Amino acid sequence: FLMIRRPPRSTLFPYTTLFRSSYAKEKVGQMKGIFLTMEGPDGSGKTTQILKLKEHLMQHGYDKVVVTREPGGTVISEAVRGILLNREYAEMDDHTEALLYAAARAQLVAQVIKPALDAGKAVISDRFVDSSAVYQGMARGLGVEKIYELNGFAMQGIWPDLTIHLDLPAEVGLARAKSRAELDRMEAQSTAFHEKVAQGYRDLAALAPERIVTIDATQDIETIHAEVVKQVEKLLAAR
Ligand code: TYD
Repeated sequence: FLMIRRPPRSTLFPYTTLFRSSYAKEKVGQMKGIFLTMEGPDGSGKTTQILKLKEHLMQHGYDKVVVTREPGGTVISEAVRGILLNREYAEMDDHTEALLYAAARAQLVAQVIKPALDAGKAVISDRFVDSSAVYQGMARGLGVEKIYELNGFAMQGIWPDLTIHLDLPAEVGLARAKSRAELDRMEAQSTAFHEKVAQGYRDLAALAPERIVTIDATQDIETIHAEVVKQVEKLLAAR
């Protein structure tokens, strides 16, 4: 039974099969849910851009826009976030870390993202599975493929329709994060770690150019916003 229903896996799994969202396309004949994710190193300006994009979408026909963040977005996921970012847990094993991010994600998908998409809403998430691919898969070195496989269990087949990657040098992002608040457990990682993150996002975007769009986040806020809007409009026009 499983053998018959499972889509064929190419040797490039998961790059070719799992990178595309098929979820929204199944909902023919009703308002289509749209799932957008914002990714990038710490301090890349994701939150600012998400709020501006939400406003744009609400002014252009999407009256229901759900904004969420990872790790977090539900009571349970926020509790898991508290564990993940607590600097007292310096001994956390990389595997534990990957599983906790996936667990927080599972609850967010089930409780927020899936119901919203089913209801035809637009969902924008501040980080999603690609954060795990880059931070745990690449920077921690657990392997991108393994991380996508692990997260498949949490995601219930839901993939972003479009992912915006805000690209900026690691040190610029870290300087911004430092000026904002005390560093959390992830931000407190080494400079080398954050450089792997910044480069990891570039490599990931190159692997999935049909889904992940890179924007230079050293530009000013309005210029970045205009580029984000252009990409989202392109996606909407193609649907
Ligand atoms: P975020 O909320 O973006 O941090 P902040 O609000 O302080 O900018 O993300 C928290 C941290 O968790 C961030 O350093 C990235 C990291 N992270 C992972 O390592 N893996 C993941 O899957 C996710 C979602 C986040």
